[in-house]
Amino acid sequence: MRPLLAANWKMNPPTLDQAVELALRVAPVARRARARVEVALLPPFVWLESVAGVLRDDEIGVGAQDCHWERSGAYTGEVSAAMLSGWCQWVICGHSERRGYFGETDEQVARKVRAGLDAGLNVILCVGEREEEMVAGRTEAVVTHQLGAALEGLAADLGRVVVAYEPVWAIGTGRNADPERAGATMALIRQMLVGWGAEEPRVLYGGSVNAGNATDYVGLSVCAGCLVGGASLKAEEFSTMIERVAELGGDGDRA
Ligand code: PGA
Repeated sequence: MRPLLAANWKMNPPTLDQAVELALRVAPVARRARARVEVALLPPFVWLESVAGVLRDDEIGVGAQDCHWERSGAYTGEVSAAMLSGWCQWVICGHSERRGYFGETDEQVARKVRAGLDAGLNVILCVGEREEEMVAGRTEAVVTHQLGAALEGLAADLGRVVVAYEPVWAIGTGRNADPERAGATMALIRQMLVGWGAEEPRVLYGGSVNAGNATDYVGLSVCAGCLVGGASLKAEEFSTMIERVAELGGDGDRA
């Protein structure tokens, strides 16, 4: 399976013109590499339609960064997975910034995952430990708990779930996790997914991924790609990342 590079733009860029320009600059590179790398751009809700418009007819994915679990209702400011399904193919659930800044609970994340799948979307579920949990040696326990809370019992739908292992302390800090250690956690995640019946589990790494280190992760047999924040906002850097990952050869021999 081709490695996936998913660009989490977060609340960026600040204007529509910049969002369209970024998509326009990345698109040709992603198109050239598409036999070897799967690329998905995840802009803010309001830029989804325009970014999808730029990428139309391309095999480049588009996704949202969050969704609500109900189809519709009195939830001021929210956007449902069902509403998103006409505009994109992917949705992120349980990003640590949602869990941390907005108090999202494991239960809410689980409902969002279910809603995303019910709406026909592919879900990128984020899991990962905070710094103090890592220091206390609780990485496995935290990740195992988050995964179980969100995915246990999904069985047949697991094929549309990609898990992104994102140590919270590595996000936006420039302190990317040691690939070998991240690989061990990703192997554990993979094993859990297989245990629940996933046939081709896909586990990504995220956290300060850049053009210089992406292949350190994607080169691992347990790693099916990366969820990229800051570096995905720089057209040149993200393009270089796509090209380098393409050179690794995503040709189906991955674990
Ligand atoms: P970062 O963000 O690449 O800027 O560390 C990753 C993420 O939050 O998904």
